[in-house]
This record gives sequence, C-alpha cells and structure tokens, in this order.
Amino acid sequence: MKYRFSFSKDIVRSSKGSISQYIDNTTSSIVVLKKLYISDGDIGAHSNEARLLKLLHHDNIVRYYGDYYDYNDIYYSIILEYIDGTTLEQEISHLSNISQRPSKDYIYSLLYQQSLSLECLNFNRIVHNDIKPANIMYSSHFNQFKLCDFGLARQTDQLTCPTIDFTSRLDLRLLCDSPRYLSSELYNYL
Ligand SMILES: Nc1ncnc2c1ncn2[C@@H]1O[C@H](COP(=O)(O)OP(=O)(O)O)[C@@H](O)[C@H]1O
Ligand SMILES: [Mg+2]
Repeated sequence: MKYRFSFSKDIVRSSKGSISQYIDNTTSSIVVLKKLYISDGDIGAHSNEARLLKLLHHDNIVRYYGDYYDYNDIYYSIILEYIDGTTLEQEISHLSNISQRPSKDYIYSLLYQQSLSLECLNFNRIVHNDIKPANIMYSSHFNQFKLCDFGLARQTDQLTCPTIDFTSRLDLRLLCDSPRYLSSELYNYL
C-alpha cells in the first residue's frame, strides 16, 4: 500500500507522528497521510480513528480514503482527503493580527456547516470529544468548513448522555490538551 503514495511535503510533525501531503500515484491526486507512531498497546486506539471516519460521509467532515499498518517503519497511516485551506485557529489568529473580525457571513457559514457535521455525528452515535478551532479546517475556495481529527472520538449507544462513554478519569485526562474546550460536565468530572 505504501508504495502507492509519493511523499510531497510535511504539514505538521509532532512526537505522535506526522501529517504530510502525498501524491496518490494511481490517481495523481493529492492526499494527506496522518502517520501515527505505534507504541506497545496502542494499535486499537489508532485504528479507532480510522474505524469511525470510515462511517462518516459528509461534506463538512474530512474524507477517509483508507488506512494501513507498516510494521517495519512502526507507524500506522490514515489516508485522508487533502483540504486546501487553513485551520479556524489560524484564521482567527490572522484576523486578530490585522485587527479584524470575521464577517457575519463567515460566522453563519461556520455555525451552519458545523451543525450539519454534528448532525451527521449524532446520526452515527459518534462523539468527537475534541472540537476546537485547531480541528476545524476552512477552505476558502469552496467556502467549506470541515471537522477533522477524530483521535479522541468515541461511538456510543447511550444517546441520552453520550459523554459518559469515558470509562475512566485517565481517558478524560487525554483531553487536557484542550481544557478550555471541555464541556462543563466533563470538566467537573476531571
Ligand atoms: N486532511 C487534511 N488536509 C490538510 N491539512 C490537514 C488535514 N488534516 C490535518 N491537517 C493539518 O494538520 C493539523 C493536525 O491534524 P490533526 O488531525 O488535528 O492531528 P493531531 O492529532 O496532531 O491534532 C491540523 O491542525 C491541520 O493543520
Ligand atoms: Mg488536532
């Protein structure tokens, strides 16, 4: 599988892995490979992100194209559509640097489109658990907002109170990267 893709450039690198642009040699299109280094015992956690993305087919959610393990290089890759745009976090920071506010149209589009993505998640009984500006991408060409990063997402049958899906406080601490975006009931549970 990995020989199907030619490296183009890195988008982000971190201790967890990398997010890079690749060319899909079979279609000549640009794709993104989200590579996560595999350490003992976390294979299930990685494949969870791909398993959930596979269920979601929506214009306002990043498209999943496939996933594979490469045990030689010790990483797991999720193949995603390439979103030609910026994160909402970058947009906000850019506007604040030039002392501007987002237009009303921009805010309405964001709210409307992200409501549609949440409706799709709700329909599939999926809780994203990490919705924040860094995980929403905006493509100005299509005026489209797309929800990304399903690394902490969970599927649950408990429709009345889906966040109770967390089995331990330890799970919840994973969210401490983004404490300002925790809902109050989760914050109190920490
Ligand atoms: N499909 C994509 N197309 C283009 N850029 C992306 C895509 N997915 C992620 N990115 C970029 O990579 C960054 C990190 O991706 P994310 O999935 O949120 O990984 P992490 O788990 O490291 O937070 C995003 O903030 C965005 O800048
Ligand atoms: Mg993220």
